[in-house]
Amino acid sequence: MSRAAVLCGLGGSLPERIVSNEELAEQLDTSDRWIRTRTGIGQRHVVAPGQSTSDLAVAAGAQALASARATAGQADDGADLVDPVDLVVLATSTPDRPCPATAPDVAHRLGLGHVPSFDVSAVCTGFVYALATAASMITAGIAGRALVIGADTFSTILDPADRTTRAIFGDGAGAVVLRAGDSGEPGALLGFDLGSDGSGADLITVRAGGSRQRSVPGPAAEGEEFFTMDGRPVFTRAVLDMSRSSQSLLERVGWNAAEVDKVVAHQANIRILNAVGEQLGLEEKQIVANLDRVGNTVAASIPLALRDAVAGGELQPGHRVLLTGFGGGLTWGSAALVWPELETGRPHR
Ligand code: COA
Repeated sequence: MSRAAVLCGLGGSLPERIVSNEELAEQLDTSDRWIRTRTGIGQRHVVAPGQSTSDLAVAAGAQALASARATAGQADDGADLVDPVDLVVLATSTPDRPCPATAPDVAHRLGLGHVPSFDVSAVCTGFVYALATAASMITAGIAGRALVIGADTFSTILDPADRTTRAIFGDGAGAVVLRAGDSGEPGALLGFDLGSDGSGADLITVRAGGSRQRSVPGPAAEGEEFFTMDGRPVFTRAVLDMSRSSQSLLERVGWNAAEVDKVVAHQANIRILNAVGEQLGLEEKQIVANLDRVGNTVAASIPLALRDAVAGGELQPGHRVLLTGFGGGLTWGSAALVWPELETGRPHR
C-alpha cells in the first residue's frame, strides 16, 4: 500500500434554463433531427444573464463538500468527521475574468479560508488535468484534502449565429473531493495518462482576448472573440487520443477493457463515445452517456456524467471506472479508480 488520493465526495450544478433543440431550430438553420442524429444531444442548460462560471462552481463545490461530510459521517457529539479542505483546483476555460484566476473567489465564497487555489486550463480535458494535479499534491504531502471542480459557461463565448457550436455546448459544473488515503482503498486514484499536442491549437480556439491578439484597446476582428472549432478533425483526434490514452492507462493499471465496468468519457458526441467504445472493444453497457440531457459541458462533463450515473444507479460501489477526456490544446487524459461508497448530503449553503 502507498499514499494515494481517494475520491470521497461528488457534486454538480446546472443552470435552470434549458434550451431544447427545437428552440435552437427556431433561431438557426438546424433541426432536432440533425442535432440528435449527428451528436446525440437533445437539450443543454444555459446560464442566465449575469450568472457566471464561479456561481456554478460554488454550487457544485458545496454539493461535493456536503457529500464528503455525509460520506465520512458524524461523531457521537454530531461533529463532522472530516478535516477541512486545504486545496482548491478549478478546471475552466471560461473564467469569470481573464485575470485573476476564478478559484480563489470560489474558495472564498465557499468559506474555505486562505487555502491555496488556482485554475487549470485544458478545455474539455481540464477536469482530468485538475484531478491529476490535486492527486499529485496529495500524494506528495503538499495537501491533505482537495476540492476539484470542473466548471464552464461556453454559452457566454459562442457565436450566436454558429449553429454547430450552439448545438453542442452547454453550461454546468461538477466537483469531487479527494482525501489522503492509501492505494488499496475504494476511490483511490490508481493512475493517470496525460498528453498534449500544440500543433492542433487552432482546431479549438478563441482567437482574440489573449496576449497575441488583444480585444482591448481596439475591437477584435469581427467574430474573433467567439469560440471556434473545426469539427471534423477534432472528431477524429478525439476518438484516436481518448482510445490511445485509455489503452495505455489500462496497461499501466493492469486491467483489460472487458474488466472495466464503466467508461466515463468526455461527453462530446455520442458518435465519438461509440467510436471510442469500438476501438477499445467495449460493450454499450460499459459506456456512460448523459449528453442527451446536458450537451458538451466542457470541464464539467466528466464529473456531471459521474453524478448522473450514480444518481441513476448505473455506477455502483466496487465498479472499475475509467475516466477519459479530450479537448482543446489539443489535450487528452485518463484516470482509473474503483468506485467508492458515497453519500449525497445537503449543502450548507
Ligand atoms: N444543424 C444542421 N446542419 C449542421 C449543423 C447543425 N447544427 N452543424 C453543422 N451542420 C452542417 C454543416 O454545415 C455541413 O453542411 P455542408 O455539408 O452543407 O457544408 C454538414 O452539416 C456536415 O458538417 P460536418 O462538420 O461534416 O458534420 P459532422 O457530421 O462532422 O458533425 C460535428 C459536426 C461538429 C457535430 C462533429 O464534427 C463533431 O462532433 N466534432 C467534434 C466536436 C467536439 O467533440 N468538440 C469538442 C471536443 S472537446
